[in-house]
Amino acid sequence: MKPTIKLAPSILAANFAHLAKDIKDVEEAGADLLHIDIMDGNFVPNISFGPHMVEVCKKVSPLYRDVHLMIEKPERYIADFVRAGANNLTIHAEASVHLHRLLQEIRDFGLDTGLAVNPLTPLAFVEEALPYLDKVLVMTVNPGFGGQRFIETSIERIRKVASWRSSYGLEFDIQVDGGIDETTLTKVVQAGANNLVAGSAIFNHSKGSAVSTKQLKELALAASLY
Ligand code: DX5
Ligand code: ZN
Repeated sequence: MKPTIKLAPSILAANFAHLAKDIKDVEEAGADLLHIDIMDGNFVPNISFGPHMVEVCKKVSPLYRDVHLMIEKPERYIADFVRAGANNLTIHAEASVHLHRLLQEIRDFGLDTGLAVNPLTPLAFVEEALPYLDKVLVMTVNPGFGGQRFIETSIERIRKVASWRSSYGLEFDIQVDGGIDETTLTKVVQAGANNLVAGSAIFNHSKGSAVSTKQLKELALAASLY
């Protein structure tokens, strides 16, 4: 069975002066998840926001809250993000030495698990972790900032993870994050990604975020037919 296509606008690129409206616009236009980027200024050079942002999203929208933890030692904050209303916690393979324990803990809280890998992190980390994952996040830029250019060698990495999904008969999502726009989206979907994060391509689009959400979703659905 083909995995369901999901579009996940990254609110990092939204306008915080009217965040509730930006979220409603993408929700009504067909977004499937809200991607919430948590950055600590250590694991990545940038600082974004903390668990409070997850609470805010929960207040203004019923959309699934997909939380991407770009933080050192994420084990310190799991309970806080659970309390704030996260539906999924994606941790980075590079950020913790106790991945098994951490993924189990996230599942014990009843949340979906995700494991992210930076562009040159060996995919062996992912293969070992597959039985514990609802989602693999193949980073398609170096994490830390919106608006960066897609790294082309990611395509082969997505293909590899997709080949494991079919050969092991598993149903985890393959998420991509960074530089996803009208051009790169078709390529990543054809390589096997089904969960697509987009920040700038949605919120900085000249015709607005509702139009861009619809366009990207249609493109992804069309690409998934091939
Ligand atoms: C990057 C973040 C992304 C970011 C994507 O570190 O994880 O989620 O918001 O932004 P765009 O789509 O603009 O590359
Ligand atoms: Zn992200």
